[in-house]
Amino acid sequence: MIFAANLKCNHTRSSFELYAQELNQKLNQEDEVFIFPPNVAFLKNNFIFQQGAQNFYPCENGAYTGEIGRIHLEEFNIKSVLIGHSERRSLNEDESFLKAKFDFAKTLDFNIIYCIGESLETKNSKQSLDFLKKQIGNIDLTYEKLIIAYEPIYSIGTRVSADLDDINTVLDFLRQSTQAKLLYGGSVNQNNIKAICALKNCDGVLVGSAALKADEFFNMIQIAKG
Ligand code: PGA
Repeated sequence: MIFAANLKCNHTRSSFELYAQELNQKLNQEDEVFIFPPNVAFLKNNFIFQQGAQNFYPCENGAYTGEIGRIHLEEFNIKSVLIGHSERRSLNEDESFLKAKFDFAKTLDFNIIYCIGESLETKNSKQSLDFLKKQIGNIDLTYEKLIIAYEPIYSIGTRVSADLDDINTVLDFLRQSTQAKLLYGGSVNQNNIKAICALKNCDGVLVGSAALKADEFFNMIQIAKG
């Protein structure tokens, strides 16, 4: 199982240091855990979990005001990235830019958690699968280090996860197109993680708000495994 935490625009470097130490002490080597802190909170220590970047610009370095490139990721030994999160798509990251990010991360041999997800409007008009198919049509589905996170926009940050049946349908559908690991994200918490992780094609979860405290995220992992 994969357990990924997207800390979004939360935690400073000093608070993330405490978070990382606490989680690192509790985790077992066998857990596959990714933590995505804000870029300014990256740490140089080695942890049991993998530290990843929520965002980057597909460049080595250069005249890209406000962005970070490969050399900045390398300084912190970052080898995992999130791409396609709906909160970045809503800031105008379009399909061609997401593809540029994907292709760049692929050439670096990074773990890529590629996020896809439909709006409630798309779901209600029964277009979900067509929509998601287009979103995954943009990337190399055979890339060995690809992980796809299905995150319906209507569920993110609402404290209500999508229906298990709907998640199941989408994950089964995605499985027909790729052997990549498949995650679910969108209001995963201590109450629903076990049932979500038990779905046939679910290889893990991407957690936002419920992972902001290290002990709570660790408890979720224990619940999912127990
Ligand atoms: P959430 O966020 O768990 O707070 O819904 C998940 C995400 O956006 O990745």
